[in-house]
Amino acid sequence: MDIRQAFLDYFASKGHKVYESAPLVPDDPTLLFTNAGMVPFKNIFTGEVPAPTPPRATSCQTCIRAGGKHNDLENVGHTARHHTFFEMLGNFSFGDYFKEGAIAYAWEFVTEVLALPVERLWVTVHESDDEAFDIWKKHIDEGRIRRFGDKDNFWQMGDTGPCGPCSEIFYDQGAEHFNGPEDYLGGDGDRFLEIWNLVFMQYERDSEGNLHPLPKPSIDTGMGLERVVAVKEGKFSNYDTELFMPIIRAVEAMVGKTYAYETGASYRVIADHLRSTTFLLAQGVNFSNEGRGYVLRRILRRAVRHGYMLGLREPFMHKLVDVLVGIMGHHYTYLKERAESVKQSMQVEEERFFATIAAGIALFEKELANTKHLFSGAVAFKLYDTYGFPLDLTQDMLRDKGIEVDIAEFERLMQAQRERAKAAWKGSGDAKVEGDFKALLEAFGENRFIGYDNLESESRVLALLNDGFARVSCLEAGQKGWVMLDITPFYAESGGQTGDAGVLREAESGETVAEVLDTKKFFGLNLSQIEAKRKLCENESVEAAVDTSRHEIAKHHSATHLLHSALREILGEHVTQAGSLVEATRLRFDFSHPKALTPEEIARIEAWVNEKIERAIEGETEEMAIEAAKAKGAMALFGEKYGEKVRVVSFGDKSIELCGGTHVHNTAEIGMFLITKESGVSAGVRRIEAVCGHAAYERVKQMRETLAKVAAELKAKDPLQGIEKLQQQVKSLKNELKEAQKAKKSDLSAMKIGDVAVVVDEVEGGDIKAMIDDLKNAHAQVAVMLFQKKGEKVLIAAGQKNTPVKAGAWVKAIAPVLGGGGGGRDDFAQAGGKKPEAIGEAKTAALKYLEEALQK
Ligand code: ALA
Repeated sequence: MDIRQAFLDYFASKGHKVYESAPLVPDDPTLLFTNAGMVPFKNIFTGEVPAPTPPRATSCQTCIRAGGKHNDLENVGHTARHHTFFEMLGNFSFGDYFKEGAIAYAWEFVTEVLALPVERLWVTVHESDDEAFDIWKKHIDEGRIRRFGDKDNFWQMGDTGPCGPCSEIFYDQGAEHFNGPEDYLGGDGDRFLEIWNLVFMQYERDSEGNLHPLPKPSIDTGMGLERVVAVKEGKFSNYDTELFMPIIRAVEAMVGKTYAYETGASYRVIADHLRSTTFLLAQGVNFSNEGRGYVLRRILRRAVRHGYMLGLREPFMHKLVDVLVGIMGHHYTYLKERAESVKQSMQVEEERFFATIAAGIALFEKELANTKHLFSGAVAFKLYDTYGFPLDLTQDMLRDKGIEVDIAEFERLMQAQRERAKAAWKGSGDAKVEGDFKALLEAFGENRFIGYDNLESESRVLALLNDGFARVSCLEAGQKGWVMLDITPFYAESGGQTGDAGVLREAESGETVAEVLDTKKFFGLNLSQIEAKRKLCENESVEAAVDTSRHEIAKHHSATHLLHSALREILGEHVTQAGSLVEATRLRFDFSHPKALTPEEIARIEAWVNEKIERAIEGETEEMAIEAAKAKGAMALFGEKYGEKVRVVSFGDKSIELCGGTHVHNTAEIGMFLITKESGVSAGVRRIEAVCGHAAYERVKQMRETLAKVAAELKAKDPLQGIEKLQQQVKSLKNELKEAQKAKKSDLSAMKIGDVAVVVDEVEGGDIKAMIDDLKNAHAQVAVMLFQKKGEKVLIAAGQKNTPVKAGAWVKAIAPVLGGGGGGRDDFAQAGGKKPEAIGEAKTAALKYLEEALQK
C-alpha cells in the first residue's frame, strides 16, 4: 500500500487541495528548517495571508529536525523512531472545519483506509478540552480516551507563532512485545506509539509568551509517514521498514558484515543521515561553516564517522545516493534529476573529512585514555578547529562512555576565536534591521510594483522613514531616508538583482524632488532609499522615474539565464545555481560543479550564449501555476512559496526559469556577452563573472586602449611583432651573458702542469670556496689555490681533485709566507694571513710547491 498516496487521495476526495512539499529551507527567518507540515501555511493561520480557496489543504511535507528539544540528532540510530529527516502527512483547515471534522476524518482514515484494528487504538485530549473529549466519545469507547496537560497535549511550532491544544491517536503495539515499566499510555516506553497529532489551532503566541486568539480557529494535523509504514508492515522500528532497509542492506554489503538490530546503530545513523543530506543537497543547500550549511556538514560528518567505526576507510555516502533515489525518487522526482550533483558534492565533503578523521580519532583516543569524568574542552576545540570534528560529533563519540565534554571551556575557546574573527572582519553591513515596518503594513498593506512594464509612474508618497527606519512626516533638503510610494516602478533588490535607482520629480515643473539611490524590500514593503533635494512630505504626488541603468541590469539578468542554460548544456545537468548577482555593469553566477572549467569549456559557454543573442530570441513572461511551470521544464523550482501563481521567464525552449526579475524583451538587446573570470568559491562550487551590453563594449574599448599602450611602449605597430623582437633581444643578451661567464672561468684555469689544471691566483670579490668547487667540477684533475684580500687580512683557500697534492699540507706550507697558519682536509683547506702585501711572494711559493709535488 502506498500510504503517502492513499493519504493525499483520501483528503483530496474530501475537498482538500493537494500541495507539493515546500522546500526544506523555509521562507521564515525564525526557522532553520521546515520542521512540520504546517510551516508553509503559518501566515495563513495567523491571518497575515488570506486563506486560499478551497480553505482546505493536504500535503506530505519533508521535514528536518536536527536539534532542539527532542534531541533528534543525538538520538538517531539509538531509538526506533528518531530521524533528522522525515515526512509528515497532514491535513489543514483554514477557518473551515474544526474539531468535529478533523476528528471524523482522522478516525475514518485510520480505521477504514489504513484499516488499523480499533481495539489497538487509543486517543488523548488536552485536560481542559471537554469538547474534543465529547466528540471522540462518538467514535471510540470512552475508556480509551485519556486527558493530559500542556506537556503532551499542547502544540506550537516554535517559541512564537500559531499554536493550540491537541489530540493524539496512539497505536498499541501489544503487551506481548513490550512490558517494561514505562510501557503505559503517556510513558516513555515503546508500547503505545503516537501516530497522529491533531492540533486545534486557536492561538498565536507573541514573543513575550502571551497567547492571542487567532482570527479563525483552524486545523493542523501531522502524521509521521515512517511510523505508519512501520505499523502497517508490522515492524517495531521505523528502520526495519522498506523505507530504510535497502539502505542498510547496501551498507552491509560495503562493510562486509551482517547487520543486527542490537548492534546496528551505526547502520541506522548512516541510513537516516543519507536521507537528510541528500535532500538538503538536492534542494541547493551547500556545505558551509555556519547556519544551515553547517548543520548539513555536521550530519554528513557524523555519518562518515559511523562508517569509519564500521571499518570503511574511503568515501561511501555518495555511493548510497542511488539506493535512496530508488526508494524515494518516484515521488520526489528532483532527486533523480540532481543525483549526480548531490553525489559529487557529497564525495568532495567526504574526502575532506576522511583526510583528517584518522588523526582526529587518534587525538580523541589519546585524550580519552587520560579522562576520568570530563573530556577536555581544549581538546574538543582542537578536534573542531583542526580536524573538522563538530562538537556534537565528539559528544556522540563519548555517548556510550557516559563522559561529557567540558562545554564551558569549549565555549570559552570558541568565543575567543569568534572575537578574533570579528576583529578581523568589520562592517558586514548585515545588521538586523528594525523599524516601523509593521505599522506601515497595518496602515497601507504591501505597495504595488508596476515596474515590469513601466519605468515611470505618477505616484503618491504614502510614508517616509528616516535613516533609522523611524516614520517621519517630512524629509528636509539634503536628508537621507526611505520612501514608500503607493505604486512604484522601482524594482526592489531580490533574486540577486540589484535594486533600482532613479529620481522623484515634481509633476508640474519637472524639478527633481529627490534622488533615488537604491530600492529594497522589507517585510513585503517596497521602499526606495532617497536623498531629498528639497523638503518632501507624506501625501505629496510625484513623478517617479527609473534610471536608465535598469536596462543594463535587465541585460545582465537575461544573460545570467542564458549562462545558466549554457552551463547545463555544456557541463551537464548536475549544474545547479548556488548564488547570483546581477548589476548594471557585471554579473556573477555561482554553481555546483566539481572542478575548474577548462579554457575550451569557457570558450564554448561564451559562444553558446552569444549564439543565442545573435539569434534574437523573443523573451516571454508568463504567470502560471507551479505545476504548469514544472511541466514546461522550468528550472530553479526551490525557494518558491506556496501561491497560486509563479512567474516564468523564458527565451525559446532552452531557457525557462522561475524568476521575479526584470528582463530584456529580446536576447539581441544583450549585445555581447564576455566571460571575464572563472574561479572556485568553495568545494564543489565554481563562479563565473561576465559582462554584457554597454559594459561589454566598455570592456572591449579598454582592452583596445591597453593594447595600443603596449604597442606604443614596444615601439611597434603590431604588439606581437614587438614582443617577438623583445624576446629575440632577451635571447641574445642571455647568450652574451653566458659567454662572459665562461670567459671568467677560463681565466682562472689558464695553466696546466701535465694533465692537471692549475690555478694559483688572487681574486677580488666573491665566494672563493664556491669558485674552487666550480673549478673542481669543471676539470677531471685540478689543483687550485686562491688568495683574497680582506682589509688588513688575507684569506687563503686551496682545493684539489685527483692529484697527489694534499690541500691541507699545501696551505700549511704557504700560509707562513703571509704571516699566518692553518690547514685542513686533503681535498679542501683554508687559512688566514696578516700580510696581504706578500700575496705575490705566496703565489710564487705556491706554484713552486705544486711543481715539486706534481713531479714526484
Ligand atoms: N504541527 C503538528 C506536529 O508537528 C501537527 O505535530
